[in-house]
Amino acid sequence: MLKEKMQEALNEQINKEMYSSYLYLAMSAYSSSAGLPGFAHWFRVQAEEENMHAMRLFDYINDQDGRVKLKEIKEPPMDFGTAVEMFQQTLEHEQFITRSINELVELANAEKDDTTASFLQWYVEEQEEEEENDKEIIAKLRGVDKNEYVIPSVDQELAKRPSLR
Ligand code: FEO
Repeated sequence: MLKEKMQEALNEQINKEMYSSYLYLAMSAYSSSAGLPGFAHWFRVQAEEENMHAMRLFDYINDQDGRVKLKEIKEPPMDFGTAVEMFQQTLEHEQFITRSINELVELANAEKDDTTASFLQWYVEEQEEEEENDKEIIAKLRGVDKNEYVIPSVDQELAKRPSLR
């Protein structure tokens, strides 16, 4: 059985993951409007992945006989600047999520809730991977000043991201 404080924090994390999904969907729409279908595809898949992150928490709370509380999802921005600025914002958002996951792990440890601490390990590893992916894409996009073909080539590469279903 989940303790009240842990349940509240996990519900808060569902909201953050749902906002992440919303944010990346907004970036997908922005990329489409900027004529970058590969970026649009990548962010759309990312939005679906964030929804899956939220659903893992949703299922976990239910499996622990807790109570899911869905909160209001904040409206994301509509404009994200240049391609590199958009990925910088993505990285900053993921760094915020990583801090949030680390706080959840600290709380689980403080509450001596080993089941939740072990459940959260998947998120710790996932966050490392997400930050790494964003940094790699930013590094590629930074070549843009020197090479005007960088954006189209990254767009083609991002278009190859496998869909989740
Ligand atoms: Fe679910 Fe990208 O953090």
